[in-house]
Amino acid sequence: MKFRTLPGTDLQLSAVGMGCWAIGGKWWGDDVDDRRAIAAIGAAVDHGINWFDTAPLYGHGHADELLVRALGARRHEVVIATKVGVRFRGGEGHAYSDLSPDHIVADCEASLRRLRLETIPLLQVHWPCERDTPLEATLEALMALQEGGKIRHFGLCNYGSKPLERALAHAPELACLQTPYSMVRREFEYALREVAAPAGEQRLGVLAYETLCRGLLTGKFSATPPRFPESDLRHRDARFQEPGFSRVQPLLAALRLVAGKLNLTPAALAIAWVLRQPGVSVAIVGAKSPEQVADNVRAVDAMLRHKVWEALAPHIDRARL
Ligand SMILES: NC(=O)c1ccc[n+]([C@@H]2O[C@H](COP(=O)([O-])OP(=O)(O)OC[C@H]3O[C@@H](n4cnc5c(N)ncnc54)[C@H](OP(=O)(O)O)[C@@H]3O)[C@@H](O)[C@H]2O)c1
Repeated sequence: MKFRTLPGTDLQLSAVGMGCWAIGGKWWGDDVDDRRAIAAIGAAVDHGINWFDTAPLYGHGHADELLVRALGARRHEVVIATKVGVRFRGGEGHAYSDLSPDHIVADCEASLRRLRLETIPLLQVHWPCERDTPLEATLEALMALQEGGKIRHFGLCNYGSKPLERALAHAPELACLQTPYSMVRREFEYALREVAAPAGEQRLGVLAYETLCRGLLTGKFSATPPRFPESDLRHRDARFQEPGFSRVQPLLAALRLVAGKLNLTPAALAIAWVLRQPGVSVAIVGAKSPEQVADNVRAVDAMLRHKVWEALAPHIDRARL
């Protein structure tokens, strides 16, 4: 495993982190089970993954409970990065972002209890406010939690470049941005390159998610669009439907070819590509099983294969969705 330090922090994170959304057991189909999820978390630690991205929303707390069950006391040795701000009602109720200082504090306290931690290593705002709280008030609440020792660092998820600039101006302590980024999803490149790492100087960490485009870039879905059960959010994801699905096939064919020659997998190449991009600190990769984890950590080997990227570049450029 390779490790990268988030600028201005003591957080030394494995290049590949484990995303815990799917193992929460909601919105990712009918093949999620706790036993495999716990095995996947154990495999992640065995492979050198030292951080886990979770959220209260993931299985409405169930992902957190699995982390505690799987890691036991080891949860103090890894970095648990969780999120704050989302309110949800009932089993399938609508979720929305309430970033009022009171809710930030209450939500953080609930995570501390659920994760059985005294301090959360990294607390990230899950998505921008859908109520009327100014960004500065939210940042003040996060800074107060940091000063009070409830969290070590804080970050933002899913913010664009303008609010990110505004946040950095008000709270230079801001540790990181979490943003979607992959070979096929590149609209946040401006924020990565111009705000997070202008002129090559990294101002804040970037945690890239959806690095496999929800599994599409593993190449496991064959020539026709897959059918997902309604319980799987990919059932409604346009990237798994036409015309997007066909658009990405030439890239997948190229990834399969190159991966086959290198004894790697398309997944490892897709994650490695993200890790090689300027501005990206680390990749969050979701996994439901130990086998998927073992496959994904090979991205670290793939990163070192310098010759393949030139050959893949034209395919990547044509496959944006
Ligand atoms: N901050 C935010 O708003 C936000 C939003 C989304 C995600 N995230 C974070 O990012 C994490 C990653 O999720 P994502 O949505 O970005 O998806 P992703 O990592 O692109 O894809 C994850 C899914 O791909 C499949 N997969 C993973 N490795 C595989 C392998 N080696 N071979 C075959 N299939 C494999 C698995 O689903 P199947 O086996 O069912 O195909 C897995 O659940 C989440 O868990 C979460 O922590 C954060």
